[in-house]
Amino acid sequence: MNVFIPSSENADRARLLFNKVLEASPVATDATLILVTHALPDNEIFTRFLASRFRHLILVPKPGSIDDASLRAMSGYSTIATVNKHALRRPGGMVQISQLLRPDGPIVIADMGGYFAEGVDGLASLVDGRVAGVVEDTANGQVRYEGKPVSFPLISIARSPIKAPEDIIVGRIIAFAVRAALKEVGLSLRELDVLVVGFGRIGRSVASDLARSGAEVAVFDIDPLKRAKARACGFATPRKVEALKQAHCIVSATGKKGISAEDLPQLRDGCLLASATSPDDEFGFEQLDGTWQVVRRSATCVSARDELGREIRLVNGGKAANFLYGGAVGPTIFLVHAAILHAISRLLSGRVAVGLQELATAEQQTLSGMWSEVFEHCSGSPLVDGGE
Ligand SMILES: NC(=O)c1ccc[n+]([C@@H]2O[C@H](COP(=O)([O-])OP(=O)(O)OC[C@H]3O[C@@H](n4cnc5c(N)ncnc54)[C@H](O)[C@@H]3O)[C@@H](O)[C@H]2O)c1
Repeated sequence: MNVFIPSSENADRARLLFNKVLEASPVATDATLILVTHALPDNEIFTRFLASRFRHLILVPKPGSIDDASLRAMSGYSTIATVNKHALRRPGGMVQISQLLRPDGPIVIADMGGYFAEGVDGLASLVDGRVAGVVEDTANGQVRYEGKPVSFPLISIARSPIKAPEDIIVGRIIAFAVRAALKEVGLSLRELDVLVVGFGRIGRSVASDLARSGAEVAVFDIDPLKRAKARACGFATPRKVEALKQAHCIVSATGKKGISAEDLPQLRDGCLLASATSPDDEFGFEQLDGTWQVVRRSATCVSARDELGREIRLVNGGKAANFLYGGAVGPTIFLVHAAILHAISRLLSGRVAVGLQELATAEQQTLSGMWSEVFEHCSGSPLVDGGE
């Protein structure tokens, strides 16, 4: 995986921002923080800062996004919990986490992807109710928490305006990865039909970016309101089966198995398939599992023959396409980190009600104002050089 290393100037600015956030809303120093994170350089700036402010930091690295050097650095100042989301969903997962915790002090979980959604109550009972609450960062994760009644304070920033800049850039980097994958085989978007499945925050950004590059972009979303919105934005919204047959390239950005096993027979031979999220969330079929025969690996794609003998090119092997470039979104990530830090501080204040909530608009505006002051004169685009 390519990694994006923030400049030392931006690292300094990020620390300045985090200090400003904590000046405005300090955290209890005896707290333990459990943080699910990408083990990547821009996250390392945040985790190092957290380690300096919390008594104990436990990191749960997301397995698909580990940079060895970043993980090594993280292990120098935090406890690394080597459990994946599947293990955390089993009863033993929370026991394993509880064994890493100190015997006293409040605990906050900063989750990314709903890793703890099924286990918070179990963990709370193992630690005498010391779990002060949870902050969730992703849309997928929020959905997991919404799956059952929430009996603890939960702040989600996944759907808040403060996340929108990150989502736009993620969409643009996914589009960038698609262009790079096409370029590898001598194709240009101007010659191709593209289908974007899911017209949410990410899908909208992908569709707009690919259309700007000259592709004929169609959109499918299960929600008729989103289809109407896509039409208003100038995209065709054919029926899914027709759109699948027509597309040379499909980007799925639903987080809810936008491409199912039933969809596969409709795909063109040679179709390029890209995901906005982890393959088990985005694809309702097993790829590269033995029934698919890998025929080629390139810098951007794994090409495989499916059971029907067609070749499908999976951008980044079916994993989130933007992670071809390390998942970096430039300084925008520090705005998200600032929101997480502020949410943690709110949870530790003990003044957050039980149940799911977002940060208030005024809080998001204040944090965005701090971010703008600090990063005002930075060039914000992480879009990788070349590849067009
Ligand atoms: N790769 C990254 O760095 C990154 C960053 C942010 C979010 N994500 C992930 O990308 C995915 C999309 O995020 P978002 O913020 O755009 O979500 P969103 O909820 O805003 O949009 C998802 C859209 O998909 C539609 N949809 C759901 N199931 C569908 C189906 N089966 N077929 C067609 N449409 C369907 C919904 O109606 C919605 O419009 C999520 O899984 C999210 O976690 C990835």
